[in-house]
Amino acid sequence: MSSENLIATPLTAALGAEVTGIDLTQNISTELYQALRKALVEHQVLFFRDQNIEPKHQRALAQLFGPLQTHPAYGTVPGLPEVTILESTAQTPSKIEQWHTDMTFRAHPPMGTILRSRVVPEQGGDTLWASMSAAYDALSPALQKFLQPLTAAHDFRHGFRESLAEPGGEVRLAQAITENPPVIHPVIRKHPESGKRLIFVNELFTTHIRELALAESDHILALLFEHIRSPEFCCRFQWSENAVAFWDNRSTQHKPINDYFPAHRLMERVTIDGDMPY
Ligand code: SIN
Repeated sequence: MSSENLIATPLTAALGAEVTGIDLTQNISTELYQALRKALVEHQVLFFRDQNIEPKHQRALAQLFGPLQTHPAYGTVPGLPEVTILESTAQTPSKIEQWHTDMTFRAHPPMGTILRSRVVPEQGGDTLWASMSAAYDALSPALQKFLQPLTAAHDFRHGFRESLAEPGGEVRLAQAITENPPVIHPVIRKHPESGKRLIFVNELFTTHIRELALAESDHILALLFEHIRSPEFCCRFQWSENAVAFWDNRSTQHKPINDYFPAHRLMERVTIDGDMPY
């Protein structure tokens, strides 16, 4: 497929674009890949409807953008360890509640994530995204300057504390804990492609800002977590069956809205390896 028919229609002023003129089951030319990459960096999250793709297509699309990661805690599609299953049922409701950037508990968090809907509830189950460049730009110059040299710890255990607290949770996730010790990232990172500055702390995985006293860190993090979710920096996507969202995980945070219990929701997710934030 070539890029001739590709149209990206922005969703909000801050981020998001609905993309048409592409069939994700088809071979993607170098030119189309470049157009998609440019659109991803520009719009930060791309949405595609009516893409009845197989996990292998999802994986092939992701592999154009870089090597793939696996997730230490989620189940996967049989035979495809890179395709993670995110499923919420009446017996096992989703535990992802907080705003986050995916997998910042890794030294190299993903550069991007591709999420495909398989089963969507009749009502609800939308996802929100927020632009971390828009959120950074809206801070006062004094606060930007204060945050610039700071670093923060990110911890797998913090993000999965509910699962760990379940009976047998520590044992079930023992290997994931050992393989994912806490890591340090800058509080404000630079986007390696656009050069934009981005807020890079999140409620799910960030435990504290290392250069501050704990009480100070708690307050500053609370301020930033509140700030990033301002409606001005957000877009909201209402899923339909066979929709795909592809987000730049360096420049966004997201939050699923868990308002559909006990309905069934099933998504398949692939994450693409990223650089070391700087
Ligand atoms: C995620 O947090 O990566 C999944 C978002 C969703 O299921 O809407």
